Amino acid sequence: MSQQIRKAAGKLGILTPGMGAVATTFMAGVIAINKGLSKPIGSVSQMGNIRLGKRTEDRNPLIKDFVPLANLKDIVFGGWDLYEDNVYEAAMHAKVLDAHMLLQIKPELEAIRPMKAVFDRTFVKNLDGTYIKTGANKMDLAKQVMDDIENFKDANDLDRVVLVWCGSTEIYFEASEVHSTIEAFEQGLKDSDPNISPSMIYAYAAIKLGVPFANGAPNLTCDIPALVELSKLTSTPIAGKDFKTGQTLMKTILAPGLYARALGVSGWFSTNILGNRDGLVLDDPDNFKTKEVSKLGVLEDIFKPEDNPDLYGEIYHKVRINYYPPHGDNKESWDNIDIFGWMGYQMQIKVNFLCRDSILAAPIVLDLALFIDLAKRADMSGIQEWLSFYLKSPQTAEGLRPEHDIFKQLIKLQNTLRHLMGEDLITHLGLDYYQELVDEIL
Ligand SMILES: NC(=O)c1ccc[n+]([C@@H]2O[C@H](COP(=O)([O-])OP(=O)(O)OC[C@H]3O[C@@H](n4cnc5c(N)ncnc54)[C@H](O)[C@@H]3O)[C@@H](O)[C@H]2O)c1
Repeated sequence: MSQQIRKAAGKLGILTPGMGAVATTFMAGVIAINKGLSKPIGSVSQMGNIRLGKRTEDRNPLIKDFVPLANLKDIVFGGWDLYEDNVYEAAMHAKVLDAHMLLQIKPELEAIRPMKAVFDRTFVKNLDGTYIKTGANKMDLAKQVMDDIENFKDANDLDRVVLVWCGSTEIYFEASEVHSTIEAFEQGLKDSDPNISPSMIYAYAAIKLGVPFANGAPNLTCDIPALVELSKLTSTPIAGKDFKTGQTLMKTILAPGLYARALGVSGWFSTNILGNRDGLVLDDPDNFKTKEVSKLGVLEDIFKPEDNPDLYGEIYHKVRINYYPPHGDNKESWDNIDIFGWMGYQMQIKVNFLCRDSILAAPIVLDLALFIDLAKRADMSGIQEWLSFYLKSPQTAEGLRPEHDIFKQLIKLQNTLRHLMGEDLITHLGLDYYQELVDEIL
C-alpha cells in the first residue's frame, strides 16, 4: 500500500542559516539549472535512478519521476548570515563558480539577501561579521528566527519551508543537562545558557514551528534529546550531521570494499589542505575538534574492530586538516592506507583527491531539502536515518550504531522510497528468478 503523501503543491522555501560557499553554490546551481544553463549532476534525487520490481520488469525510473518531490522551478531561496553580502557577492567571494557563469544569473542571485544572523563568537572564533541579531535572551533570539521564517513564508507566498544548516562549524562540546529535555532546553533559552549554541537556536525555532531541519555541519545542533523530543511533539522530520563530501565520501566507498573482501587494515592516514572560509574556521583547534570527531567515527563503524580484532584491532586512524589559502575551495586530500592480505603480506593504497568541496556539497543540500520536505508530507517525524547516505556522522536513535557504508545507506534510502510508494522492497536475494525458470521447464 502506498502511504498517503500530500502533494508537493505550491512553492517550497529553502532557508539556509549560513550563506557561504556551499549555500551560494547550491542556490546558484539550482537557478542555473532552471534557466537551462546546467544540469543537476551529483543530485541523486534528480539524476539517480531506482529499480522497481524484478529485474525482468525493466522498470528503472529517475527518482524524481517516482516520488512526488518539489519541482526545482518551485523553490524559493533565503537564509541568514553575519555578513550582509547578497548571494551574488557571497558567491563571487567564495570563488567556487566562475564569474562568467555567475554573471548570467546575477539578477536572481542579487535578489537573495541574508537576514541578520544569530551569532556568538564563542562558538566560531575566527569570524568577525557584524550583521547580527540582538535580543533580551536566547529565547528572544529564537522567537526572532521564528518570525523570520513565518514572514519569509508569507512574503513569498510559500506552501512549505525547510531549513538546511550551511553555517560554519561550531566549537566542540558535548550534550549536557540543558540539552536533556525540552523543559530544560526552553528554560536554558530563557536563561541564555552558555551551552546553547546559535545552530541550536535556529534548529529549535524551525522544529517548534514544525519546519523540517537538516544539519550540514558536524555541530550537535538538533542531535540532542531535547530537540529530538520536540521534533516528535511537533511532527517534524530532522536529519544530521555533516555533509558527506570529499575525503569521507571516498572513505565510505573504499572501506566497505576492503571489509567486504576481509582484507586487514593497519593504518589510515588522511590529510587535507583547503583555503576557503570553512578552512579558516577549522584552523582553530576547538572548531577542528568538532570536525575531527565527525570524521573519525566512520572507519570504526565500518570495520567494527571489536568483531574483527585480527583484521582491524590495531588500526591507526589519523585525520588532519590544514588551512592553505592558495587552494581556495579546491580541497586537496591525501590518504595513505596500509592494508594486509593472505598470510599478513602488506600492501598500500594511496588516494590523492583533488576535489571541489562545495561542488560535491551543493547537490547534497538540494537532496536533503527535497527529501526532508517529502518526509514531512508523508507524516514522518523525528530522526530520518534513511538520509544517512548524505551525512558524515549520521544522527540515529539513542543506542543505535550509525551505518556508514555508502552502499547500505543507498539501499536504505531507496527501500524507504519504495516503501513510501507501496513498491516491493528489494532484498537482492534473486532465488525466485531461478525458481520460476525451473517451474517453467517442469
Ligand atoms: N564544503 C563541504 O564540502 C562541506 C562538507 C561537509 C560539511 N560542510 C560544512 O558546511 C558548512 C558550510 O561550509 P562552507 O564551505 O559553505 O563554509 P563558509 O565559511 O563558506 O560558509 C559558512 C557561512 O556561515 C556563516 N555563519 C557562521 N555562523 C553563522 C550563524 N550562526 N548564523 C548564520 N550564518 C553563520 C558564515 O558567515 C559563512 O558565510 C561548514 O560548517 C562546513 O564544515 C561543508
